[in-house]
Amino acid sequence: MDIEFVRSRFIKHFDGTTGSIYASPGRINLIGEHTDYNNGFVFPGAVNKGIMAEIKPNGTDKVCAYSIDEKDYVEFGLNEEDAPHASWAKYIFGVCREMIKRGVDVKGFNTAFAGDVPLGAGMSSSAALESTYAYALNDLFGDNKVDKFELAKVGQATEHNYVGVNCGIMDQFASVFGKAGSLIRLDCRSLEYQYFPFKPQGYKLVLLNTCVKHELVGSPYNERRLSCERVAEVIKAKYPEVESLRDASFEQLEEVKAELKPEDYNRAKYVIGEVVRVLDVCDALEAGDYETVGKKMYETHFGLSKDYEVSCEELDYLVDVAIDCGVTGSRMMGGGFGGCTINLVKEELYEVFIEEAKKRYQEKYGKQPKVYDVVIGDGSRKIC
Ligand code: GLA
Repeated sequence: MDIEFVRSRFIKHFDGTTGSIYASPGRINLIGEHTDYNNGFVFPGAVNKGIMAEIKPNGTDKVCAYSIDEKDYVEFGLNEEDAPHASWAKYIFGVCREMIKRGVDVKGFNTAFAGDVPLGAGMSSSAALESTYAYALNDLFGDNKVDKFELAKVGQATEHNYVGVNCGIMDQFASVFGKAGSLIRLDCRSLEYQYFPFKPQGYKLVLLNTCVKHELVGSPYNERRLSCERVAEVIKAKYPEVESLRDASFEQLEEVKAELKPEDYNRAKYVIGEVVRVLDVCDALEAGDYETVGKKMYETHFGLSKDYEVSCEELDYLVDVAIDCGVTGSRMMGGGFGGCTINLVKEELYEVFIEEAKKRYQEKYGKQPKVYDVVIGDGSRKIC
C-alpha cells in the first residue's frame, strides 16, 4: 500500500494539510473455520495487504470521510442517531461509537482511506478497516489506553451492532495482533494466543480467488451461528459443563441426535471435528509434517462444503482441481459463500497447479481465478 497515494488524496480532498497515517491488514486462516464463535481455536495470520487511512482531528463534532476506492464522500455526527447510509461509512461510524462506549473522547476528524486487500475475497477487508480506525482513534483521542484485545473487540462489536454480522473474534484479532512471518494460534474463549513462525520448507501458501463475491451481510452466516448455539443448549441440558460446542464431544452429540434438526446435527458435527483439527495441525506443524497439515485442510473443506454448507460450486471446483494436481492441502477459507481457496502446494508443483487452475476455471466459468501468494505481515500500526 502506497503512503504517498493515500496522502495525496487526503491533501486533495481536505484543507491541504496532512494528518497521521495508520494501517491494518487483512488475514488468511490456515485452519479453524467457524470455530471462533463456538469458543474454539483458530489459526490465522495477517497478510501484507490491508487498509491505510490518513486521519486528522478537525476541531468539530463531525467526521468527514472519503473512500478513495469508492470515490465517495460522507459526513456524519458521533451520536447514536447519526449513522450514515453508505455501507463503508457504517464501519467507521461503528468504530467511533464503540470507542466512545469504552470511554474514549472521540471528536470530529477528516479522513481518507484506501485498501489493497481484495473486497469480498474472504480476507477480512472489513476487519482491516475496523482495526485501522480503532487503532487510530485510540492513538489520537484515547492516549492509547484501550488495550489491543479491546481494540479487536471494538471491531467485532462494530460488526454485531452496526453491520449486522454476528461474527467471532478471529478476523479482528488477526488484524490487530498480526506479526510478520508468524501465524497465530488463538483460543477464542480465553483469548490466549501463541505465535507460530510459519516458514514451510519446500511449500508455498497461495490463495485462489473464485471472484465470487463473498458477502456475509444478509448471508446465512448468522443462521449457522444460531444452529451451533441451539445444539450447545441441548447438550448443556444433559452436560452442564458444555458452554459451547468447543466443550462438546462426538459422543455427546450422538446422544442428543434425536432431539436435533438434521441440519443442526450436521453443523455441530463439523464444528466439533474442526476444533480438534486445529490442534492436530499445530502438532503437525511443530513436527514439520506438512502432509498431515494438508490432509486436515482437505477434511476441513469437505466438512464446510457438505456438513456446514457454506461453500459454493466454484470453491468446490478449485479444490477438486487441487486434488487432481496432487496439491498437499486445499480448502475454502473464511466465512464462505464465495471468496478464496487456500492451498498448501509443494514448490515444484506450484507453476503447474496455477496454470491448470487458471485453464480449467476459465473453461468452466469463463474467467480466471485471481492468484495471491501469501506473505504474512504485521498487524495494526501507525505509519507516520
Ligand atoms: C468470518 C467471520 C469470522 C469467522 C469466519 C469463519 O470471517 O468474520 O469471525 O467466523 O468467518 O471462520
